[in-house]
Amino acid sequence: MASAAKNFTVDRLTSSIGARIEGIDPRDIDSELATRLREELGRHGVLVFHAPGMTADEQCAFAAHFGSPMGHPVKEFLVGGPDDPISVVENDAEKPPQDDQDFHTDYSFNGEIPDLAVLRPEILPANGGDTIWSSTAAAYRLLSDSYRQILGSMNGVHDAGERFWFEMDRMLGPEQATKARNAFPSVMHPVITAHPVTGEPLLFVNPGYTVSIDGLTAPESRSMLQMLFELLNDSSLHYRHRWHEGDLVMWDEHATVHRGPSDFHPEHRKLTRVTANRRAPRSFVPA
Ligand SMILES: [Fe+2]
Repeated sequence: MASAAKNFTVDRLTSSIGARIEGIDPRDIDSELATRLREELGRHGVLVFHAPGMTADEQCAFAAHFGSPMGHPVKEFLVGGPDDPISVVENDAEKPPQDDQDFHTDYSFNGEIPDLAVLRPEILPANGGDTIWSSTAAAYRLLSDSYRQILGSMNGVHDAGERFWFEMDRMLGPEQATKARNAFPSVMHPVITAHPVTGEPLLFVNPGYTVSIDGLTAPESRSMLQMLFELLNDSSLHYRHRWHEGDLVMWDEHATVHRGPSDFHPEHRKLTRVTANRRAPRSFVPA
């Protein structure tokens, strides 16, 4: 196999998030190139590659350059070991898309989240089915100094939510679902976290899993979260990807949140995703 390309181009996709990487075959990278790509990922939040004909195993091998693959935490708990790192996101007329409509960080209901995810399309609808990312780094930059200070001492409560457990109950049966639910109570993460690579401050709440702010009254918590979720909805923070065959998209789970509109129902869409390098989000400490 030819040696990994040392030069690649980085073209920004919007003013605040996303970049297209050209000049690299993601099947042919070495550790030096992986380090440079990780830096670009921290800088841009989302990287788009062209990798026609890539297989799920090659996708897994690409993700493994950035850390050990991370399976679904609930499945790992139930099987008592590593879960299959390749997860399939598939919807059609019988299984309407509904899980990913709100902005979320994958697995933020868990103490540890993946550093990054890699997504590859296998079956695409004729219309719709895009994925949208929002920059949590740019969201932080929109906050005033006063809010940065207030939020810097707060923790968000993250929970998988009733819809998730309902789905687990349907898939696994009540006994397994109850066992898993007892093992995954709500967790707390700092509202402002530090990026694990760049150290940059990030707004770490998401409407998918953040249910309250610890220590606030219910009305205070609701209005605070509503304001923060509105920030994430600001389109100046977004990159919207229209999927094409041969795409490979990697995103930073700390520096972004993502959502998938269900605008392709009842068409068939199948994507495969690999997440890698788990760690607990840590607080941002101003210098
Ligand atoms: Fe997701």
